[in-house]
Amino acid sequence: MSYNTFGIDLGTSNIKIFNKNEDNVTVEKNIIAIENKTNVLAFGNSAYDMYEKAPSNIQISYPLSNGVIADIDHMKTLVKLFVSDQMKGSPRPVDVYIAVPKDVTEVERRAFHDLIHESGIKVKKIMLVKKPVADGLGMGVDVMNSQGVLVVNVGYDTTEISILSLKGIVISKLIKVGGKKFDDSIRSVIRREFSLIIGEKTAENVKMNLKNLEKEGKNAVVYGRDIVTGLPVERQIPTDLIDQALVENFDTILDSIKATLERTPPELAADIYKHGLYLSGGASQVCHLAQRLSNGVGLNVNLAEDPIGSVALGIGKIIKDEQYRSLAYSVEEDE
Ligand SMILES: Nc1ncnc2c1ncn2[C@@H]1O[C@H](COP(=O)(O)OP(=O)(O)OP(=O)(O)O)[C@@H](O)[C@H]1O
Ligand SMILES: [Mg+2]
Repeated sequence: MSYNTFGIDLGTSNIKIFNKNEDNVTVEKNIIAIENKTNVLAFGNSAYDMYEKAPSNIQISYPLSNGVIADIDHMKTLVKLFVSDQMKGSPRPVDVYIAVPKDVTEVERRAFHDLIHESGIKVKKIMLVKKPVADGLGMGVDVMNSQGVLVVNVGYDTTEISILSLKGIVISKLIKVGGKKFDDSIRSVIRREFSLIIGEKTAENVKMNLKNLEKEGKNAVVYGRDIVTGLPVERQIPTDLIDQALVENFDTILDSIKATLERTPPELAADIYKHGLYLSGGASQVCHLAQRLSNGVGLNVNLAEDPIGSVALGIGKIIKDEQYRSLAYSVEEDE
């Protein structure tokens, strides 16, 4: 095996790792389960399986919050575990390219570099990549030459709205709306209308199944705890109630896109109109969101083929293809 390089998109909900030698992207839950405060019991998808079900001596946490590193020690542990898994026992040092959000402080951006540096993995070179640029590239946008590309990534905790032009970012805005807020809205409407408390995973499943349920004209069937009796029950929830609960989140995203477009130099507007809106991120797949955004801004929407993996695929292109090398930079070059 030749010298390996990894590309990492660290998301609040999912970590995506591009492996150059295998030319693929692995997606795992960015989550760790700690037993008795010190012992790593599980990480990634297997830790997620325990989420909301574990006894109190098992602490399960997401080390990222709103797109930035909130719990540095657990995040270092996770990076080491995930990358070591990918290295499959190879003792050779690796290069790591990591995507960083644009609209956060310089200190928060540097933390992504320091995380890799201090994770305990043997690294030769650490490079940073602007997340929206990688995202555009992952969706097949010609980021080197295009002037005026609107990219909207709807993730778990955040939505990042960016205007790209000629290899760089003209404007980028990170707002605290994403799949988690969608789940919260579903939980609260079910609580209010049905006096039923459901778990986060149940709400997430409803959200992910919404398109199919609407196609088949079925209600969502959920299990939870009745507020009044305290007993476990099953309820049928009409999908239009869920749609109504989600729409205010969609409109928060829409308003931010509009505000971003209003700040965009007019010369770029024509190109944005021509290209349409590029939509990615796992939560961008939720039923009716793309259509609402398209109607709201009057643009065609290009859906990412792989909404969760597009940033990591873009980093992969930067790693593999010489023509994109200038899109990666070292921490000293961060502006
Ligand atoms: N088919 C689907 N329909 C609706 N939502 C989905 C679907 N698949 C995944 N999601 C949602 O996508 C979100 C995760 O997406 P993603 O991996 O892009 O986020 P992230 O990068 O971890 O978060 P962030 O970018 O905010 O740090 C979750 O909220 C999940 O419920
Ligand atoms: Mg993300």
